[in-house]
Amino acid sequence: MPASTTLYVVVCAAGPAGRVDRLIRPAQARGWRVQVIATPAAVDFFDTGAVEELTGRPVRSQHRGPGTPRSPKADAVVVAPASFNTINKLAAGIADNYALDVLNETIGLGVPVTILPFVNSAYAGRAPFRRSVAVLQEEGVRVLLGVGGFLPHPAGQGTEAFERFPWETSLESVEERIGGFGNGAA
Ligand SMILES: Cc1cc2nc3c(=O)[nH]c(=O)nc-3n(C[C@H](O)[C@H](O)[C@H](O)COP(=O)(O)O)c2cc1C
Repeated sequence: MPASTTLYVVVCAAGPAGRVDRLIRPAQARGWRVQVIATPAAVDFFDTGAVEELTGRPVRSQHRGPGTPRSPKADAVVVAPASFNTINKLAAGIADNYALDVLNETIGLGVPVTILPFVNSAYAGRAPFRRSVAVLQEEGVRVLLGVGGFLPHPAGQGTEAFERFPWETSLESVEERIGGFGNGAA
């Protein structure tokens, strides 16, 4: 894999966000440069300083100020954990924060985007959510929901589900789509 291959990891304000290093570390080990983007609500869900130290890059949650360098362009994007809120807004084309802006644009550009939700079964069963997932899939976004991906937990049992959150399935998903590197393949 070229040294410049960049993975955007978009973090939402959902339960396992504090363990995003479980995605960052294996991605780095497989040769990705990782740029973390957080929704405004997500910055309170994880230690942004620790993540900046790990990635060597600022965590972006807002648009750039004048004179601030651009982030490297994304070769692939993972949204994990993806919240009910962000999934629904993204499917509707809403871009009212930096993370959503980036996601709307990268989908439009045809960059591979994989979404790994973390929602309880009450959220997952809502008709708007099911429609949002279908809309995103129609656009070519992979939503790892169900067997082989994220299985919604009963409401109130999110903490127990943190440990089972399948971070690495999202990495495998984007790697499949950009040509099969990873696992030492390239
Ligand atoms: C402690 C706490 C835990 C939450 N966990 C989840 C969750 O696991 N999944 C989810 O979809 N929303 C969860 N929420 C609700 C979201 O944080 C809320 O909908 C927020 O607006 C999402 O913002 P974002 O999509 O911009 O990140 C949680 C909220 C709090 C306060």
